Amino acid sequence: MADTAANSQVNLIKAGLEDAVVSTSEICFIDGHKGRLLYRGFDVDDLAAQSTFEETVYLLWHGHLPTKKELAAHVKALSATASRRLPSKLIAMLRQFPKKTTPMEILRTGVSALSAFDPDADDNSREATLRKSVRLTAQLPTLVAAWERIRRGRPPVAPNPKLNLAANFLYMMTGKKPTPLAAKTFDVALILHADHEFNASTFAARVTAATLSDVHSAVVSGIGALKGPLHGGANEQVMLMVDKIKDPAKAEGWIKKAMADKARLMGFGHRVYRVEDPRAKHLRRLATELGEQIDNLSYVEILNTVAKAVTAEKHIYPNVDLYSGAAYRAMGISTDQFTPIFAMSRVAGWTAHVLEQHGNNRLIRPRSEYIGATEARYVPLSER
Ligand code: CMC
Repeated sequence: MADTAANSQVNLIKAGLEDAVVSTSEICFIDGHKGRLLYRGFDVDDLAAQSTFEETVYLLWHGHLPTKKELAAHVKALSATASRRLPSKLIAMLRQFPKKTTPMEILRTGVSALSAFDPDADDNSREATLRKSVRLTAQLPTLVAAWERIRRGRPPVAPNPKLNLAANFLYMMTGKKPTPLAAKTFDVALILHADHEFNASTFAARVTAATLSDVHSAVVSGIGALKGPLHGGANEQVMLMVDKIKDPAKAEGWIKKAMADKARLMGFGHRVYRVEDPRAKHLRRLATELGEQIDNLSYVEILNTVAKAVTAEKHIYPNVDLYSGAAYRAMGISTDQFTPIFAMSRVAGWTAHVLEQHGNNRLIRPRSEYIGATEARYVPLSER
């Protein structure tokens, strides 16, 4: 049958691929009605309480909890200076960018550039993709921290192989070892953001991987999709809202007006969850604990008031992006670094999905239902 609009065989599904199941996967499960999130069968609540980011990365990549020996080797690989450091030519390249370049632009460009220096760049075997995934997971924090220093006219801080990924990142950002609470909070935040089924950035990464492209290209696709305010960019937008509200006493009036104006409320709503995102409660608690430590609970108070009003009036609930920024702000991290931090964690999920996609690959190539003209007649330029 001819492939024309008139005899289209396309079955139209809901806009935005809502509810469309495009693949099987063994990595992540979401129960949107019960508010449950599992990585490889393990409840994220248990992982947040008992695991570490490094162990969670192992779980996502390999599908099982590591033995002590496996974990030690994995942590060693992720912490090694050889894995974490950036090529000096890349640091030199970062210094060429205008200082106003956003951290997400730097991350997207820097990850793309890293593939040019990677010894396994053109090897797509599982072993090479795992080695590249180790390097990417180790290098992203160095890249994010290096840009923070360079744009402020300071020298980058070399990674410290004795610190875990969370503490080392905070150390490279500030040059000082973080408090135990800050390091623990950051580690839990990384666990909570590590994967989330077929979210937009993971889907983008899988589409790229499914052309048999390489893991760096897939991660660049993921970063590009994560950047938008409907996805990972929402955490930054939430704090910009908090900055506009300023005073907890003004939060209720501000958010009621925003709802009356039919504004899109950042940090609320979700395509899959019909209840509160299970990650939000952890981030609310951690942001509160950090706020108490720095004796400034105003961000959390503003967010709590906003959440109460939005939930009561619109029946949409906090998602992962509502409270994370309040925790990062309490650690002294710049607002435009919140989404790169999300990527530093989600790279674990993207790379796990690339491994799964390459393990049982078929090109991802959906259809559109063509609704344009079909009988257009070409008019020579001289007659137009
Ligand atoms: N603010 C205002 N109204 C909303 C919101 C919101 N945040 N979320 C959903 N709605 C309303 C929307 O107006 C629509 O109402 P109606 O049916 O009357 O037109 C209804 O709920 C369905 O909304 P939708 O936009 O069709 O839902 P979606 O599944 O396409 O969008 C979403 C999901 C996450 C893009 C959306 O909830 C949103 O824009 N949230 C704000 C941005 C945000 O916080 N994103 C982070 C998402 S979670 C983590 C991550 O991916 O980074």
